[in-house]
Amino acid sequence: MAESFLPGPGQDLSRLQQDDTQKDCTTTRGKPGDALAEAIRAREARNMAYPEGGRLLGDWKAGQKIFNDGFGYRIGSFIPSNPNAVRGGNCYACHQGEKKEVAFGNLGTSLQSYGKVRGQSEPIVKYTYEKIYNAKVYNACSNMPRLGHKGILSPKQVADLTAYLLDPASPINQ
Ligand code: HEC
Repeated sequence: MAESFLPGPGQDLSRLQQDDTQKDCTTTRGKPGDALAEAIRAREARNMAYPEGGRLLGDWKAGQKIFNDGFGYRIGSFIPSNPNAVRGGNCYACHQGEKKEVAFGNLGTSLQSYGKVRGQSEPIVKYTYEKIYNAKVYNACSNMPRLGHKGILSPKQVADLTAYLLDPASPINQ
């Protein structure tokens, strides 16, 4: 094995092991068919978790920071001596967001004016929270990382992102 592939301090090698859903999506090349897709979504939904107190709309200003933070899965955050290192969502890697931000990826859909277009009804709040927590609950072989499900972001951080996308005062809706 080349030296650069040796585990460094805090590196999470469990990421190299595919879980059942990743295997299903790999073997079907992302096209699982209706029955398997339904089974995947049901399996993924079993691990949905919500913030304490059940408030799915958090603090949009905190959400803005998480959305911007490019350290989506920073290696240092796995160093046991630093278990509280905060991770970001790295959302701009795949999504358009605020108008003033010109550097963004386009693997995901544009999230500009997301809340302005959809409103803040209870089903929209729930969908947005759950989609960010685990995109595969809705789209079995989604290319979006399962940010809450994989413990990259906490339920509180997912609620902050939900508020950032939905709050009328959020810059993403201006
Ligand atoms: C690696 C790329 C990638 C990253 C990083 C990513 N997403 Fe996504 N996202 C996608 C893709 C692809 C889709 C569309 C396919 C789907 O719905 O699963 C999507 C869909 C979504 C949707 C649903 C949009 C709709 O119209 O219903 C939301 C909301 C969303 N992402 C929010 C986020 C947020 C917030 C972050 C950061 C915490 C994020 N995404 C990070 C790839 C990504």
